[in-house]
Amino acid sequence: MTAENQGGTQQRRAVKAVVPVAGLGTRFLPATKAVPKEMLPVVDRPAIQYVLEEASGAGLSDVLLVTGSGKGAIEDHFDAAPYLESRLAADGKDALLASVREATGVADVHSVRQGVPRGLGHAVLCGREHVGDEPFAVLLGDDLIDADEDLLSRMLDVQAARGASVVALLEVPADRTHLYGVAEVEATGEDGVVRITGLVEKPEPGTSPSNLAVIGRYVLQPGVFDVLARTAPGRGNEIQLTDALETLAADESIAGPVLGVVFRGRRFDTGDKLEYLKTVVTLASERDDLGPAFRTWLNDFSKTL
Ligand code: G1P
Repeated sequence: MTAENQGGTQQRRAVKAVVPVAGLGTRFLPATKAVPKEMLPVVDRPAIQYVLEEASGAGLSDVLLVTGSGKGAIEDHFDAAPYLESRLAADGKDALLASVREATGVADVHSVRQGVPRGLGHAVLCGREHVGDEPFAVLLGDDLIDADEDLLSRMLDVQAARGASVVALLEVPADRTHLYGVAEVEATGEDGVVRITGLVEKPEPGTSPSNLAVIGRYVLQPGVFDVLARTAPGRGNEIQLTDALETLAADESIAGPVLGVVFRGRRFDTGDKLEYLKTVVTLASERDDLGPAFRTWLNDFSKTL
């Protein structure tokens, strides 16, 4: 199933997603002492459910959670809950039953343990056996993408059309680049798609190659695994996915080009306390059921500030 197209090789769209969830969630302590940060509710669903719904909506039907110690609640959330379900059914609570089953049906969910947390690159490498020799997506749980956006689908289209690895890029203010992997890019001729010529993980202020930050969506070629396996610890003494992608970008003969899809829609960062609060308020105010009453209250409340 190969044909040359715009310098790359056409291939099947990825169908597997790797979702690293082993992080300690220290920014949300003490809430995350006994509860995984991915399970913190955004209105009435845990943050991680939005991420798996996004994956499934883009056709990624197989999800591998890369978990760690204390993360069992995430696996439970996506598993069937026979006792709870039979109680809800017996009580005629059909809407609640449907909402419980939504999480079970969202994707074919698997898990692997990271063991020792050695960085994002290492977490992705833990998915090697499950993923095998096919392209795959990586979704980071802290980033929520507006459900109306088709970012991931667009990235998968680019991957399939060009046999490329693809990262999502977002333009951020200069004083925020040190929080992200940042890309050096050149035009491809396709609107919103750039070629990555270099990547730096969390550049020191004033040294950033651009304002284009990598946000937590990647579609990768399986060749990244060999590169990750030989990538030395980088920033924070962790094996960085950004460093492996920099190696791929510097030599297209390894696994094809590394491209970026520039995202201009809404992205919510639930990994930061203030941004998390804004996310909950925004999404609650847009809900059909809660929104009208919540917006009225919010409006009145804002006048008391
Ligand atoms: C990770 C990546 C970074 C990327 C960011 C996106 O950093 O290492 O390159 O820009 O996710 O959210 P973290 O936020 O886990 O420190």
